[in-house]
Amino acid sequence: MEKLVIKGNKPLVGEVNISGAKNAAVAVIPAALMVQGFVKIENVPNISDVKLLADLLRLLGAKVNFDDKNTLSIDSTEVDKYIASYEMVRHMRGSYYLLGALLARFGKAQVPFPGGCDFGYRPIDQHIKGFEALGAKVTVEHGVIKAEADRLKGCQIFLDVVSVGATINIMIAATHAEGITTIENAAKEPHVVDVANFLNAIGANVKGAGTDVIKIHGVNTLSGGITHAIIPDQIEAGTFMIAAAATKGDILVKNVIPKHMESLTAKLLEMNIAVEENEDSIRVKGVEKINKANIKTLPYPGFPTDLHPQTTVLLCLAEGTSTITESVFDSRFAYVDELKRMGALIKVEGRMAVIEGVKSLTGAPVKALDLRAGAAVVLAALAAKGTSEIYNLKYIDRGYEDFEDKLRSLGADISRVIE
Ligand code: EPU
Repeated sequence: MEKLVIKGNKPLVGEVNISGAKNAAVAVIPAALMVQGFVKIENVPNISDVKLLADLLRLLGAKVNFDDKNTLSIDSTEVDKYIASYEMVRHMRGSYYLLGALLARFGKAQVPFPGGCDFGYRPIDQHIKGFEALGAKVTVEHGVIKAEADRLKGCQIFLDVVSVGATINIMIAATHAEGITTIENAAKEPHVVDVANFLNAIGANVKGAGTDVIKIHGVNTLSGGITHAIIPDQIEAGTFMIAAAATKGDILVKNVIPKHMESLTAKLLEMNIAVEENEDSIRVKGVEKINKANIKTLPYPGFPTDLHPQTTVLLCLAEGTSTITESVFDSRFAYVDELKRMGALIKVEGRMAVIEGVKSLTGAPVKALDLRAGAAVVLAALAAKGTSEIYNLKYIDRGYEDFEDKLRSLGADISRVIE
């Protein structure tokens, strides 16, 4: 079994380059299945979710090649299968995008229910509602979602909840539909825009991504021969910004889009932390006295739920009582018990964590319970006095490229050991 051993209480100082966005890559890669041709995707994060998707596409008949660590060439000309393997799909959430892409290409798709991080009930009813509105017949048999349509037809869909996954999936499926599809109450996350840009590059006609109304004019053919670069990862960037503040360090976070970071930047400033925005980088400098704050997660441009556990670590080190309210997912507080092992004083009341600031955290053996909960315990260990051991690394490897190397280059005492 692998674990990370971290000797904490050292300020992280230096520069770090942010990788491509996981949640954009996991949608763009399946969307490439719709093209009878070749696409090149650059700035792909080198993480296990991407490798898994590459294997899934290969099993469907695509030629997938890593030209280098961060560049993926996909040729879907010979894709001839529309059934995805349970063994692989069960490991990741983003596999639901295979449904939209295969439905668009073949008029049929069979994909087992997706896996991914466990934050309680994570339905996909809005994806299904969208496919049905487009004219597909959707059934669920033995844990497999089956969608089928003679021809998808453009329609108007009002999402009952703001869902990143449903917005992107419907956008993908509608590229080939006859007529115009309108998605209202659409998610506005940066990766929704990135996927729309990719779809437009392969010949789709998607307008309004980044607003809450997206219009897709269906087209008959999509064409390859294009190169698309994935946007920088907003959540990885935020994780390093918080790492600078939590370790009282000084990090220049490079290759970011500062606009995507505004909700975090505003909260860090409120907490008395120094943040300096440049054109494509952000410098965060920690301070001795961190102010308390009250934070609520919301869909973009609100505070991202995927920075919730990492931010709690910082609030643990603030003076006074802070709160963080989770309003995107029903349940995202499992990480709290891990932080308590490290001396955190946190009470969960419904969807809110009440955090009593402490002078310092202390090293302990802890588990990564999901991807962002894993990032949170790593940040806590870096800030804590003493040594921590972090288990369950598969979650962290799913979403952070070269996490330990990047942290080590900033001065962290971190090593991966096999027990
Ligand atoms: N929801 C429904 N029905 C649906 C879809 C969603 O009720 O059909 C609800 C969810 O239960 C949740 C809310 O709507 O309460 C928002 O869920 P959303 O669909 O936006 O989330 P997702 O597509 O399952 C993606 C990311 C998550 C990220 C969320 C929110 C991927 C592969 N995953 O999940 O990323 O937390 O959006 O921004 O893109 C992560 O990267 O660590 C991660 C978990």
